[in-house]
Amino acid sequence: MKALVTGGAGFIGSHLVDHLVAEGLDVVVVDNLSMGDLHNVKHQDEVTIYVEDVRNEKFMQQLLQEERPDYIYFLAAVASVADSIERPAETHSVNQTAVFNMLEYIRRTNLPIKQFLFTSSAAVYGNLPELPKKEDSRVDPLSPYAIDKYATERFVLAYGELYDLPTVCVRFFNVYGPSQNPSSPYSGVLSILTDCLNNKKQFTLYGDGSQTRDFVYVEDVIQALWLITKSDTEHEVFNIANGNEASLNAIIETYEKVAGTSLQIKKAPGREGEVKRSVANIGKLIKLGYTTKWSLEAGLSKYWEGA
Ligand code: UD1
Repeated sequence: MKALVTGGAGFIGSHLVDHLVAEGLDVVVVDNLSMGDLHNVKHQDEVTIYVEDVRNEKFMQQLLQEERPDYIYFLAAVASVADSIERPAETHSVNQTAVFNMLEYIRRTNLPIKQFLFTSSAAVYGNLPELPKKEDSRVDPLSPYAIDKYATERFVLAYGELYDLPTVCVRFFNVYGPSQNPSSPYSGVLSILTDCLNNKKQFTLYGDGSQTRDFVYVEDVIQALWLITKSDTEHEVFNIANGNEASLNAIIETYEKVAGTSLQIKKAPGREGEVKRSVANIGKLIKLGYTTKWSLEAGLSKYWEGA
């Protein structure tokens, strides 16, 4: 069995690649290294890596013909709400057009695949009051990022139903853990917090810190992805989260305790297009056998150990 992981040198992608290699799959990675890093890929001698952009349509088509993967995990993305507001056209070309082009090519050429898994986001739920968010809760995408993720989900599911393709979507909540790149102001907040605590840098807190998120440790995310693959599920959407709501203030306090040091905080106005509260219902995933192995404290301690 062969798996293609786009974004496989990135944060979540590289953890997935490790897991797939350990499960005995042949793994092919495409990554343009915009946020990813080849050092993230542990078993480089066992993995085929192409440093390319998923927007290079000709390259991607040739790759699919030559490699003929059974499983496709589409993780390549500009993974930031704020970045999508700064660069909507560019993020759209990655977060939607590249995925659409691949699906369309698979349909046109009848490429045989076992599963096409698209990684969407909790951002699609927006600020509607129902909590926790279930996969069939109403959506209200507030940013170009969330709109692209939701629209692409719909393409992925409709292609699955209309053309009998084995497609599935996941909605990541806030994933954290080793290899998350802190280098951009648009990086995940826990990678930035880790960098600030570790290097005594000032942290910019957007808003009053009462915004909540459902933080899930990357190992639990990989467990969930693999359960979905093994279950041969089709045409479904799954939340991937921990199932707990924590405010940014509470997270900062917990992390300061774990790290045994205090954070220098500079306050700034809240970011545009942001979700105020986010927490998942993970019942659907639990039915597949998912159990969260990492509480926030345990995950943060483990992350801090390696930082
Ligand atoms: C994150 C992910 C996104 C995913 C979504 C799912 C990143 C970069 N984004 O978006 O890919 O689809 O979760 O829920 O991982 N903050 C600060 N200071 C900072 C950085 C962030 O106060 O320096 C705040 C933000 O304003 C926000 C919260 O921390 O309120 C979380 O921000 P961020 O980590 O960027 O995540 P999301 O926008 O939730």
